[in-house]
Amino acid sequence: MAGDRVRLGLLGCGVVGSATARILVENAHEIESRSGVPVELARVAIRDTSKKRDAFVSPGLVTDDPWDVVKDPSIDLVVEVIGGIEPARDLVLAAIGSGKHVVTANKELLANEASTVMKAASKAGVKVLFEASVAGGTPIVRPMTESLAGDRVRRIMGILNGTTNFVLTRMSESGESFADALAEAAERGYTELDPSADIEGHDAAAKLAILASIAFDAAVVSGDVGCEGIANVTARDMAAAHDLGYEIKLLAVAERHGDEVAARVHPAMMPRTHPLASVRNELNAIFVEAEHAGELMFLGRGAGGPATASAIVGDIVEIVRDRGAPAAYPGAAALERRARIQPAGDVASRYYVVLSVADRPGVLASVAGAFARHGVSIASVRQEGFGDEATLVLITHSASEAQHAATFSELETLEPVRRLRSRMRVLGTAEV
Ligand code: NDP
Ligand code: HSE
Repeated sequence: MAGDRVRLGLLGCGVVGSATARILVENAHEIESRSGVPVELARVAIRDTSKKRDAFVSPGLVTDDPWDVVKDPSIDLVVEVIGGIEPARDLVLAAIGSGKHVVTANKELLANEASTVMKAASKAGVKVLFEASVAGGTPIVRPMTESLAGDRVRRIMGILNGTTNFVLTRMSESGESFADALAEAAERGYTELDPSADIEGHDAAAKLAILASIAFDAAVVSGDVGCEGIANVTARDMAAAHDLGYEIKLLAVAERHGDEVAARVHPAMMPRTHPLASVRNELNAIFVEAEHAGELMFLGRGAGGPATASAIVGDIVEIVRDRGAPAAYPGAAALERRARIQPAGDVASRYYVVLSVADRPGVLASVAGAFARHGVSIASVRQEGFGDEATLVLITHSASEAQHAATFSELETLEPVRRLRSRMRVLGTAEV
């Protein structure tokens, strides 16, 4: 990257790629002034050449063979916004191998293959930046890798998926159905190619793995993150949460416990007074608790082409401005180590539990007995409805996941319990 301009190859030109091309053209003046040289969009790889592209991508740049781009010796920097592991992984490694810097928004790749990618980048002396891979346009990777590099992070907690936050907001505020809200999120370009990655929590888990690896100086991969999505959240749960003064959010939490890391994604009820409860639509928010900096909160658009592209172009400018500096990801060496993951059963939670029960004397005692036998203390209980409609709504004090799981199993076998209708973690004042 020594010439009088930087030539950029774009792999993928969908929601994020086309927004990136747009910023590169519209903000060319600012980008040149901040980078020191013009940044030229030189090649664009897509899959289907018959699709109409917008005016920022001139047809002469387009190829349906991404290898044309990574093998082109005149390309200095590759932006990977195809997504998924393959062929993205091979393309990124090939680009690195031929001395090209890389910017990527691909959380799936980084949450599974960061160690391979960063090792290759260190060896080749090129940079791989990935701000857009976590929380879209919200700066979080750079603050974590740079601003907090001298501190010790204890905990990360946040909303890391725009699609599910959009769906939950729509269900909560306008009573929209899950399916309609999801269709609108897809229409707006928030969903992954396979939206089950959003709904089942895997996308948030990948982002949490990336942040946890940075925070805790050891590789945390997607599979290390306990993962539960929002597919089972019903309108009834939403109404119950409102009655209690709560909102339901898909929460991602990673924390250090001694020399172990606990990482999980799951829906949780949280009091409306909690700052995360007011994070609406596709916004993401991340609380970081560091030993010396204290509590920090980052808030911004977690999904959508323009916001994500802003983060990508920021990474491009950083690489071009620092050209010649042979740095890869600052924590690359730490990724050689796998984090010790705390067993999921040891994590402490509070739960909201709804049971359909027979409405007769002794039921409450029988239910309370099951909780007591597994050492789970009940914080509140109330009966709703009568006869066949009778339900018990309980909230527990903090106890381990293993204790709660054993309680739920026993409840399902109790004669007066017709059905364990719902259970969801509750974010309390002191614990998740
Ligand atoms: P899209 O599906 O909109 O775009 C993917 C692009 O990659 C398309 O242009 C597609 O071509 C192209 N492509 C797919 N396979 C190939 C291939 N084998 N060779 C060449 N091109 C290929 O995805 P997004 O833009 O939404 O997402 C891209 C990445 O950004 C993903 O990693 C995603 O997780 C991440 N991301 C997305 C955000 C969002 O809000 N959408 C936010 C943050 C990160 P064609 O157009 O011909 O189909
Ligand atoms: N599908 C992702 C989301 C895109 O909804 O958050 C941003 O990573």
